[in-house]
Amino acid sequence: MERICPSVAGEQVFCVESPAPQCGLVVFGASGDLTKRKLIPALANLFKRGLLSEDFFFLGCGRKKLTDDDFRKIAADAVKDILPAAGKFLDGFHYISGDYSDSDFYGNIKKWLSNRDKKTGTIFYLSLPPSLYPQVVENLGRAELNKGDNDFVRLVVEKPFGRDLQSALELNDCLSKWFSEEQIYRIDHYLGKETVQNILMFRFANSIFEPVWNRDYIDHIQITIAESIGIETRGGYYDKSGALRDMFVNHMLSMLSLVAMEPPASFEAEHIRDEKIKLLRAIRPFNLAPWSEDIVRGQYDAGNIDGRQVPAYRQEADVEKNSKTETYIAVRLFVGNWRWQGVPFYLRTGKRLAQRVTEIAIVFKKVPHLMFASAGIEQLPANVLVLKIQPQEGIRLFFEAKRPGPKLCIGTLELDFNYAEIFGTDPPDAYQRLLLDCMLGDQTLFTRIDDVRLAWQLIDDVLNNWLQQDAQPPLYPAGGESFPQADTLIQKDGRNWRKISTRPGSPKSEM
Ligand code: BG6
Repeated sequence: MERICPSVAGEQVFCVESPAPQCGLVVFGASGDLTKRKLIPALANLFKRGLLSEDFFFLGCGRKKLTDDDFRKIAADAVKDILPAAGKFLDGFHYISGDYSDSDFYGNIKKWLSNRDKKTGTIFYLSLPPSLYPQVVENLGRAELNKGDNDFVRLVVEKPFGRDLQSALELNDCLSKWFSEEQIYRIDHYLGKETVQNILMFRFANSIFEPVWNRDYIDHIQITIAESIGIETRGGYYDKSGALRDMFVNHMLSMLSLVAMEPPASFEAEHIRDEKIKLLRAIRPFNLAPWSEDIVRGQYDAGNIDGRQVPAYRQEADVEKNSKTETYIAVRLFVGNWRWQGVPFYLRTGKRLAQRVTEIAIVFKKVPHLMFASAGIEQLPANVLVLKIQPQEGIRLFFEAKRPGPKLCIGTLELDFNYAEIFGTDPPDAYQRLLLDCMLGDQTLFTRIDDVRLAWQLIDDVLNNWLQQDAQPPLYPAGGESFPQADTLIQKDGRNWRKISTRPGSPKSEM
């Protein structure tokens, strides 16, 4: 059954949402943070929207010893703001504890699943440290939980998918020994964000943007994921990872491929994923020569954010005192194809920056001839289209217009569209979309193995280069905007980073 959503304010809206088929989740690492913060609340929202199947189940699995009741209490707490009376939702929650290396654990899970009255689809969700993936997958396979008499069996894996090309391929070998590519759902939660998905709608559901979406009209594109948070309690993981592995190889490349890919023939998963792959394949290898560096990195020092003193990265818990891990990267890359020849893409991401902002800015070329020069106006800013991903989701277009008054008076104005203002609510969290799609068997927003391979291939040389250099990344003060090396990367091309620390609403300062 398909549900057609009501139109907003009488406008014509084409909106299709299918509810999940009969299925449930078996989550490994169920007592962990991701389950509590993301998975259970997302499921509660799907339940509230009537999108979960009648006999949906959530089987929590983990090392921690918990009873069904203990687990339901944890789940109730996680959804108290979404479903104050969560009784019916929580009925489907159960828990089995065990050791991930113990085959009995998987035997118990199998018994639990086969004791259910109905045979329904099963989704195994690995919400675990990646070092445990091979062990769990191997045991699932040996217990024949990868197939069986269920409707369908799927496997969801969280990032990071490996830590370089080789380890990603090894991990994939292990997964594909037991699960087919159609069963494997590799999560990149950025793809579940409404505004990231909107990139495709915006580009391919309108006829006015695509004709100018190319090297003839676009000067350059900037993709920014700035975070004001540090590494929180994840020092152990992050210190072995760094910004390139944590953000670039997945979230940033995903956004880049959506904004730069060719129009897919249809909204089918494989068509979209094929175009993403073609785009990734067209990215030129980075120039790592010191005189033309395409990638720079930095690490945050102590500083001040929103009036609060915060420690340097090296002073964070579980981080090496002389750590060389990068918490910031800025990248310049080129896509070697017909559409993008010569157009630079500047990407940056960093922790402990002045403000949280994720956006894609398409900076158009300036007008070819300035007819106002004779009247003394020598420079006009370029038009900029900003796809605002977070925290305020929307779209913003900066353009030049006449100001009231003197005959010749031009200034920058903006068209600003905000999701929250128009729809009266924030867009749903990414995990709602991703969990529902997985239940529906739609792999569009999940990363295919060739995507993973190409992404690692692109950065493997960079990682090796950094390893050989063994250098301390330059420090930037927490709460800052940028630092000289990152600025030089773009300024040497005669361009500037967009400011990240401006509050929305002041057009001039955002340019
Ligand atoms: C995660 C990274 O994948 O994404 C984190 O591991 C990062 O380091 C997070 O903070 C950012 O996600 P979001 O949705 O808050 O932008």
